[in-house]
Amino acid sequence: MNNLENLLNEAISLFDSIDNTTELEQAKAHYLGKRGVLTEMLRGLGKLSPEERPAMGGHINKLKKALEKTIDFRRETILSKKMEAQLTREALDVSLSGRGLGMGGLHPVTRTLERIESLFRSIGFTVVSGPEIETDFYNFTALNIPKNHPARAVHDTFYIDDGKNEHLLRTHTSPVQIRYMQSKRPPIKIIAPGRVYRCDSDVTHTPMFHQVEGLWVDENVNFSALKGVLVDFIKQFSEHEELSTRFRPSFFPFTEPSAEMDISCVMCNNKGCRICSYTGWLEILGCGMVHPKVLKYVNIDSEKYIGFAFGLGVERLAMLRYGVNDIRMFFENDLRFLKQFN
Ligand code: FA5
Ligand code: MG
Repeated sequence: MNNLENLLNEAISLFDSIDNTTELEQAKAHYLGKRGVLTEMLRGLGKLSPEERPAMGGHINKLKKALEKTIDFRRETILSKKMEAQLTREALDVSLSGRGLGMGGLHPVTRTLERIESLFRSIGFTVVSGPEIETDFYNFTALNIPKNHPARAVHDTFYIDDGKNEHLLRTHTSPVQIRYMQSKRPPIKIIAPGRVYRCDSDVTHTPMFHQVEGLWVDENVNFSALKGVLVDFIKQFSEHEELSTRFRPSFFPFTEPSAEMDISCVMCNNKGCRICSYTGWLEILGCGMVHPKVLKYVNIDSEKYIGFAFGLGVERLAMLRYGVNDIRMFFENDLRFLKQFN
């Protein structure tokens, strides 16, 4: 009897000292396995006299049950401790405020484009578009820009290597004029916004930028209509009635006469600064009366119809509207800059 009690105490203190389930199962096998201490004892019953056997058998079975219970209890203690440790490790403070989802917003150039489009729509212009990869013909030839014109120089234009230099990234939106007039007859009153590409980079130039082409062809369109539309537009756009503008005589092979429109520099208020190259003025667009040769190219009777066209720089207007003093910031994707417009 004493032996059995000692055995029980010894086993219980062993189980209590174990704190992982693998070792616990090994200890269990040591006592209760096929070759375990208790199993051997049960086998040994055969050597006892028939009178002693039932009592001894009863004791051993009681001991076996006690051990099994202790082991089960210990196993549960180990597992629940493990779970507790895991919960502490992976603790989650549900009272913390969330990180939230960042709200997207429109790019300042997109906002500017939308504003320009809605102003021209309000005076009857339709919005159309054309391809960014153009042919030499639409970008130059049909616009009366001959083969030897400097605008064709490789350093001004991104040609696509098709073996013939026939395709290029359009350098302006003017080819859309030709595409549109090839299939439509006057009256024509359209704007064509889109991306254009040039080898350019400084505070007022980027290699990719946006233009909005405008074209109005009808029987009695004239230069004062051109001036009126553009001056009115820029005043509405800038919400600045007193904004000074000027038309400078210029040259484009596809318009005659031609002009460039400047607004007084918004950075220095016409005093002269780095942005306006110390002239006090910022060029925003080129314009003019559509050249009769261009109308002939698209079979529109230049005796009957006359038109004006313009091509404005969208980023320049975005600089004006938002007071941005370096055009390149629009395309650096710096969120600290972009977030300010939303
Ligand atoms: C033209 O591109 C002519 N196609 C405009 C035109 C259309 C004239 C219809 C007559 C009739 P210009 O190269 O000046 O013209 O460019 C027009 C405007 O685009 C400029 O006034 C300027 O506002 C803007 N611009 C030109 N180059 C850049 C550039 N690299 N980055 C940003 N804006 C530019
Ligand atoms: Mg120009």
